[in-house]
Amino acid sequence: MDYWHFVAKILSPYPENIDLALEILRGGGSIGLPTETVYGLASDATNATAIANIFAVKNRPQFNPLISHVSGLEMALEYGVFSEIAQKLAKAFWPGPLTIVVPRRADCAICDLACAGLETVALRAPKHPAAQEIITRFGKPIAAPSANISGSISPTSASDVLAELGGKIEIIIDGGNCEIGLESTVVAVIGDEVTLLRHGSVGIEELASVAGVEVNIANLHDENSPKSPGMMLRHYAPKTQVRLDAASASEDEVFISFGTAPPTSIGKIIHLSPSGNLTEAAANLYAALREADKLGAKAIAIAPIPNIGIGAAINDRLGRASDPAI
Ligand code: TXA
Ligand code: MG
Repeated sequence: MDYWHFVAKILSPYPENIDLALEILRGGGSIGLPTETVYGLASDATNATAIANIFAVKNRPQFNPLISHVSGLEMALEYGVFSEIAQKLAKAFWPGPLTIVVPRRADCAICDLACAGLETVALRAPKHPAAQEIITRFGKPIAAPSANISGSISPTSASDVLAELGGKIEIIIDGGNCEIGLESTVVAVIGDEVTLLRHGSVGIEELASVAGVEVNIANLHDENSPKSPGMMLRHYAPKTQVRLDAASASEDEVFISFGTAPPTSIGKIIHLSPSGNLTEAAANLYAALREADKLGAKAIAIAPIPNIGIGAAINDRLGRASDPAI
C-alpha cells in the first residue's frame, strides 16, 4: 500500500537548499542526491528506521545491501577494515566512481539493515560537489542506492528521479545530468583478495595495476566467490522488450544506435554516440532507454557495443536489461 504523500521539489544546490537537505537527513528522511554516476536515494546510514524507509520506497528486497557514501578514506576507516590494498584503491580512485566492499569494523555504526546483515560494508566517496558537501557537513555516512524503483532504470537527471519517486520523497537536489551515467564499479577487498563485483567506469586493468595483484571476477555459480546480492536480480530494465546486437530495426521497433546508424533502419532512432565514443554512450544510455520506453514500440533494438573499457559495463547493464531469466 502506498502511504506517501509528497510532491517532490527539485532544488538547485544553493546554500539554503543544502541546509534543508541536511535537516531532512537529520530528521530521518530521504532526499534525491546527485552523484557523478547516477542519482541516489539518500538517508542517514546509521538510522535503521530511515534505511527501512529506503527499502520500502524503492520496493527493494531486504537481502540487497546499500552503498554507504563517505567524504573520504578518513571517514571510511571509522566503519570498515581497510587492508593495505583497499587503502591503495581508495587513495587512487576516491573521490570517484569506485565502491569498495570491506569487512565491517566491530564498532561499525552503519545499521545492519543497510548492510543486509552481512559482515561486510560497501563504501564510496562520490566526487560530485553537492554530494561531497552534503556528506561532509552531515559528518556521517549516507546510504544511497540508485533513486529508482527496484529493477528499473537508474536516474541520471533530477527529472528522472521525479519520474521514479516523485510522490515518495520531499526534495531532489539538482546536480545536473550525471557525468558518468552508469553506477560505480564495485570491488570487494578482503585482505589481499580483490574481486570485481560490478563493472563500472573504473576498469579491471586499472584496479589490478593499482592493487598490484590479480583481480578476480565474481563467479555467480561458485558459492565461495564473493558476490553482490544485487547482481542476482533483473535490473536496469525498460518495460519494452530489449533486443541486443541489432544490425537494424523493423518499423515497429525503436533503434538505439552506436556510431553511425544503419541506413536500413526506418523506425525511430535514438543515438548513444554518433562518433562512436563509449564514454559518451555510457552517459546517454539510461536516458536513451527511458526515452525508448515511452514510445510504445514492439521492442528496443540496440546496436552492438564494443566490449572494451566502459563498454564492458554498458554490455553488463544491457545483458541484465534484456534477460528475462534474471
Ligand atoms: O554509483 C553507484 O554506486 C550508485 C550511486 C548512488 O552511488 N549507487 C548504486 O547503489 O548503484 P545500488 O544500491 O543501486 O547498488 C549497490 C550494489 C548492489 O548490487 C548491492 O548488492 C551491492 O552494491 N552491495 C552493497 N553492499 C554490498 C556488500 N556488503 N557486499 C556485496 N555487494 C554489496
Ligand atoms: Mg540500483
